[in-house]
Amino acid sequence: MKKRGARLVTALIGLAMLSSGCVPRDPGEVVIHSPDERLKVSFAVVEGRPHYGVTYNGVEVIAPSSLGLTFRREKPMDRGFAIDEVLKTGSDETWIPVWGQSGEIRSHYNEMTVNLIEKVPANRRMSIVFRVFDDGLGLRYHIPEQDGIGAFEIMSEDTRFSLTGNHTAWWIPADFDSYEHLYTESPLADVQAVNTPVTMKTADGLFISIHEANLTDYAGMTLARLKNPSHPPTAPHVFKSSLVPWPDGSRVKASTPLSTPWRTIQIATWPGGLVESNLILNLNEPGVIDDTSWITPMKYIGIWWGMHISKYTWDTGVGHGATTENAMRHIDFASRHGIPAVLIEGWNTGWDRWGQRGAYDHVTPYPDFDLEGVVEYARKRGVSLVGHHETGGDVPGYEKQIDAAFGLYEKLGVPAVKTGYAGKIYPRGQYHHGQWMVNHYRMVVEKAAKHRLMLDVHEPIKPTGISRTYPHMMTREGVRGTEFNAWSEGNPPEHTTILPFTRMLAGPLDFTPGIFDLTFDNYKKENRVRSTLANQLALFVVLYSPLQMAADLPENYEGNPAFEFIESVPVDWDQTRVLNGEIGDFVTIARKNGDRWYIGSITDESRRTLTLQLAFLEADTKYTARIFADGEDADWESNPAAIDIRDEAVTSDTILTVDLAPGGGQAIIIHPAE
Ligand code: NOJ
Ligand code: CA
Repeated sequence: MKKRGARLVTALIGLAMLSSGCVPRDPGEVVIHSPDERLKVSFAVVEGRPHYGVTYNGVEVIAPSSLGLTFRREKPMDRGFAIDEVLKTGSDETWIPVWGQSGEIRSHYNEMTVNLIEKVPANRRMSIVFRVFDDGLGLRYHIPEQDGIGAFEIMSEDTRFSLTGNHTAWWIPADFDSYEHLYTESPLADVQAVNTPVTMKTADGLFISIHEANLTDYAGMTLARLKNPSHPPTAPHVFKSSLVPWPDGSRVKASTPLSTPWRTIQIATWPGGLVESNLILNLNEPGVIDDTSWITPMKYIGIWWGMHISKYTWDTGVGHGATTENAMRHIDFASRHGIPAVLIEGWNTGWDRWGQRGAYDHVTPYPDFDLEGVVEYARKRGVSLVGHHETGGDVPGYEKQIDAAFGLYEKLGVPAVKTGYAGKIYPRGQYHHGQWMVNHYRMVVEKAAKHRLMLDVHEPIKPTGISRTYPHMMTREGVRGTEFNAWSEGNPPEHTTILPFTRMLAGPLDFTPGIFDLTFDNYKKENRVRSTLANQLALFVVLYSPLQMAADLPENYEGNPAFEFIESVPVDWDQTRVLNGEIGDFVTIARKNGDRWYIGSITDESRRTLTLQLAFLEADTKYTARIFADGEDADWESNPAAIDIRDEAVTSDTILTVDLAPGGGQAIIIHPAE
């Protein structure tokens, strides 16, 4: 079990400098290997242009790919360079996250810094840093302080990714404002411009995912197919980093010293290897919060789904969801069922002006909502509130109020806040994923730390592992979640079998699983969730979030025996193992907390049977598996609610047969037998 409340966020169990040294001037090609030597990164300056390439087990993953930056005023830094020196070092340490998918994380890498010098005309200096782990690599640019470069504007970052084959790719389109898209599976040849993470399978059976880590004071990166290369491509499918712009067309406003975010390439020999990788977290800085005792992963319910299915309104009036009375009813339910927290949306004034500038007042409750009374009612019952700030994209309006708004929650003892940036950003022309917003989101993270508030950010910047540094940055949306089922054609069953291998590689997701009334015909006949009930339970294990919502109405949970699984399932884990998976078809994830294992299996629209080897259990121990399976005739379309709950005796020798209905799933609790 993790030690909670420990003063230090990370503990250094071991640190070894593996090698260090200096390679002499202009050595031609220089290389660095992963600790297990399978992954090789090479770097060379070809006709003055910096290039890198990657192989895995001798197979070329990234063909020679050029690197460079172009600026508004200064000459580009992409040619005329020579290697000045090459520094090699490495590290092997194990650190303890405050929460996460495993209780400790090993960070073992070899590092190579290539210091480049411009031959003509200005002798400018730039470095490329490579960190090579067994499960992938990160590379970043560093522009050191030097004469003649002060403040500058980056117009483009030209990091190429020269992919060697027409891989199968899972991707969402490059969208500067949203990640709320369905994934497309297609040949790489059909991919033009994408948000990251983008995941690929090669003909050799390698799995590759490209993303970024530690996105700080920089624009978010998308990838765009290179159409008119100024120098010939070295591979059939060349993509380049394409940064989200400012309104004036620049991408990044910076000054020296500048370290860019890491450009990451995760590599695995099977899909589960990507999920078990900690590359993104390992490429972030250690925690900066000394006392983390207030950072507590938890489940929550909320006055939320009711608005999406039009049972309630956010706005005050006849159907208002966030009334004192309704809040108390939710708190009573949470308290009775051991759910630690309740989210309340629509409690503050401004929802009648949704989308307008200056709409929301983040400190004034509607007259039918007694904020202090509700907090006190909850406190007496051992329940916390998750506060809510919807900005509607009005960032200046939020920034004006944020001190008062966070101060109010802190004063009342509200431990977490969900923020939202629905709609276009004010000022118009700024994008959710541009540098200006990246800095806004970070400002909010830093303020939240001062007020001891955990964060759940909707319409966020994508996760890039900063929750290692700021572990109160718990979770975020940035995914096409459950809400889409309430008011659109919804998410197809395969959606959640793709997410673990794409969006979830970046970090936790507030997907909001747990809908029990899958057709909600009383409210919206034309919409539904394309999933079985057992699938909804399995998502609590498959989709990781340290703040995990049980999203349905309490009255749909009350009296349903399947709710036992939601009551029981933890949100923080000692170990995570992927037991099987094919991207877009099915996946099974097993997670351990204390002496219990929780397993979630899900499938797409196809019925299938999986077998699970329970060899990860302690030998010579008798366990009981409490199984929440699709009922015999279950089918997302015709019979979504059919569920079969039963106990089976199991040991580490057991091979479980898991039958999954179309759109189905299975959730299992394995605990030592009494
Ligand atoms: C969009 C968010 O994703 C959703 O969870 C929230 O209920 C609405 N915005 C209103 O804030
Ligand atoms: Ca949303």
